[in-house]
Amino acid sequence: MTRTICLALTGASGMPYGLRLLECVLAAGCRVQLLYSPAAQIVARQEMDFDLPSRPADAKAALLARLPAVDPEMLAVFGREEWFAPVASGSNPPDAMVVCPCSMGTLAGIAQGLSDNLIERAADVVLKESRKLILVPRETPFSIIHLENMLRLARAGAIILPPSPGFYGHPQKVGDLVDFVVARILDQLAVPHALLPRWGE
Ligand SMILES: Cc1cc2nc3c(=O)[nH]c(=O)nc-3n(C[C@H](O)[C@H](O)[C@H](O)COP(=O)(O)O)c2cc1C
Repeated sequence: MTRTICLALTGASGMPYGLRLLECVLAAGCRVQLLYSPAAQIVARQEMDFDLPSRPADAKAALLARLPAVDPEMLAVFGREEWFAPVASGSNPPDAMVVCPCSMGTLAGIAQGLSDNLIERAADVVLKESRKLILVPRETPFSIIHLENMLRLARAGAIILPPSPGFYGHPQKVGDLVDFVVARILDQLAVPHALLPRWGE
């Protein structure tokens, strides 16, 4: 059966992780429900010279232009206040959700159960429905507030997966570092991939 993954892009540094993850999850045949914040649009432009339009239909077209092999039916893009999106309700949760990159603001909102926008609400739904929630938080250093929010979320069942690439595989380029992190996320999602050789093989 086709799996549905909700991917939220927020305004932390690390947009290359989010967009590479989108590419890999779609390539593996999963259906993707993509959410993004206004700050994610700013970071996408800053880090990747990528314009992620405000209108979800335009954002979908811009993403598909980067991924020409993808069946458009496999990607749904929703706006921040699109409360009729499937992910807004526990009656139709995705199989898993990843927030990548995850800002400290969104992390705090999810930790407090605010559900103030579709990203926070979708994460709230995924937690309450006992589906897998993977957060890829990016900040350095972490304050006690950040750490307490992460601990609270981990206790609630979320996977805290910091973008911390290992160097033991002798990465040669930035893309190798990105793929290291994306490989760990795909492993958590049980999505098959061959991004990196596995240790001991
Ligand atoms: C270029 C850029 C990089 C940023 N990097 C981070 C970051 O690494 N971590 C973080 O928590 N916030 C970062 N911020 C700040 C967030 O974008 C800001 O707190 C925003 O309100 C988050 O909103 P969101 O959670 O709705 O995306 C960055 C902002 C910009 C413009």
